[in-house]
Formats: sequence, C-alpha cells, structure tokens
Amino acid sequence: MIDSFCVPLVLDCDPGHDDMFAILLAAAHPGIDLLAVTTVAGNGPLDAVTENARRICTLAGLDGTVVAAGADRALLGDRRTAPNIHGKTGLDGAPLPEPTVPLADEDAVTVIARLLEESERPVTIAATGPLTNVATLLERRPDLKPRIERIVFMGGSAGRGNTTPLAEFNVHTDPEAADRVLRCGLPLVMCGLDVTHQALATPEVFERLRSIGGLLPATLGGLLRFFAGTYEKVYGMPAPPVHDPVAIAAIIDPDVVRCVEAPVAVELAGEHTRGATVVDLHGVTGAPANVQVALELDSGRFWDLMLDAVRVLSDQGALSD
Ligand code: BDR
Ligand code: CA
Repeated sequence: MIDSFCVPLVLDCDPGHDDMFAILLAAAHPGIDLLAVTTVAGNGPLDAVTENARRICTLAGLDGTVVAAGADRALLGDRRTAPNIHGKTGLDGAPLPEPTVPLADEDAVTVIARLLEESERPVTIAATGPLTNVATLLERRPDLKPRIERIVFMGGSAGRGNTTPLAEFNVHTDPEAADRVLRCGLPLVMCGLDVTHQALATPEVFERLRSIGGLLPATLGGLLRFFAGTYEKVYGMPAPPVHDPVAIAAIIDPDVVRCVEAPVAVELAGEHTRGATVVDLHGVTGAPANVQVALELDSGRFWDLMLDAVRVLSDQGALSD
C-alpha cells in the first residue's frame, strides 16, 4: 500500500474476463476505496462491456458501485474488439444475473472529473482497457492533473505483443490515447505483458477458486474456463494470463511486482509496429524515464490477494445459488 490509508481509486476497464477480476479485487480489498468503475469499448462494444461491469457488480453484491460508460471508439474512430478471446458478449462462459446496479446518467469522463474535484486526496486511476477515457480526461481537464496521484495501466509490452507481433491489445486498440497518457507527465506504472504473462490461472488456481464454494467462485470458474479455452486455441498457452488484476495488485502491494524506470513511447506510424510500446530498458535513447515498467510478478502473492478477494466477496453479500 502507498500508506496506511485507503487508496482512492477509479477503475477504467472493458470487461472482459480479466477486467472482471480487477473489479473484484479493487472492490474487496480494504486498502482501496473504489470510487467508480468506468467503461470503455475494447474487449467488446461499449454497451456490452458496460452491461458486463454492472452484471459482475450485481453478482458480487457490490450494489453501491458507481458505474459510468465512456468512449465507444478509439480517438481516431476505430472500433476494435476481441471476440476471439472474450467471446461475443465480451464475457462469455457462464450465465450472469440481470444487472441491478444502475448506470450513471453522466459519461465516464464527467464522472471521473467530478470525483477528482471532490476527493480529499489525489486519486489513483487504474486503466485496464484502451486508454481512450483517460486521454480524453487529460485533454478536457488538464487543470485536474494535480488531483491524480498516478495512473497504473495494464497495457503494452517491453517485448512481444499479443495482437500484432509487437503490439499489445489495449495499446494497439487506441495508440493515440496511449501516446497522450505516456506523455502526460504524471507518475505512470505500466503492467504490460512482461508481467501479466506471469499471472497464469494454473490448475491449482482453478482448484483454489473452486474450493471457496458458492455461486460467485463457481461462476468465475466457468468464465475463466472459457478464457482458458480461447487462450489455448489462439496462443497455445496451457494456462491463461489473467492480466488486469495485476495492475490492482501492484497498487495494493508494490512488492507484488518489480519495476524498472524507463522511457516508454508508442509507435504510431510503423507499417508493422503501430501500437507497439517501445521500452528503452538500457537507456540507449537518452530520453528521460517516464514510466515504472513492471517486469516481474510475485505470482504467489498475487494469487493470494486475488483469491482472498473472491472469498471476502463470497462471504459478504455476493448472490448465492
Ligand atoms: C488486455 O487486453 C484485453 O483482452 C484484456 O482484458 C487485457 O486488458 C491484454 O492484452
Ligand atoms: Ca481489459
């Protein structure tokens, strides 16, 4: 934890199987005060991922969660989704309840701006989808930058990609937004594929989840099995990487990840490399470091945090069978 207080947090996401775990960890952990869940088109169209966020909150008993919808396309107007990984709904694999958690009347950027204005302490933004909403906020309300503690995002890679050979999905889906965020001058933490590919849902993780018992873990298990199936089919990975909650775990407990400070830029023009993050680990460009890049995960610590969160929610008010 940053200090002994709760970290006020906005989670901007595109649920998405792994975003779902990010929401649950942020909502359950006592070190985080989850001010809002905001959504952005990414794994599915905006309507679908927003409904998914509301369904997940409903299932987990997170009735008071503020959910607000944001951008339905990238800054340049592209709409890219990932049905090959997350299915048609963005969250295929198990039935979810009808959402009872309401959708805010205001859009995501307006809601985040208001929360920044109202919070007694600077707010951390966790972004686990394309960075469209965050970039729009920074452009629309530069006066609020001092109200942002830091931006911790899942995206990018210091090595290879998962959407093109060098580009990771969240950055590739809106490279211009990622570029704006990387240049914004605020403290940034990048949890890219380097570290999230160490957050694997192994058979042991499935078993620990199942053994919690009840509707929430059973539903999460079904969804995670779907995700494991698509990862196996598309990437030949025997255990799927559960990317997004790594960003939340890094906020809760900085010792979960090992970071190095480095200059990071996004390739916007390359014929084969658009959307790739160029991470200068050896300082060869001489550019100033702008990002803490997470490279190693303490996966034992990570899964303990994640599964404890599921247990807490299961005990505290998640829907039961
Ligand atoms: C990222 O892309 C999405 O499919 C996941 O939710 C994650 O945020 C991984 O590249
Ligand atoms: Ca995501």
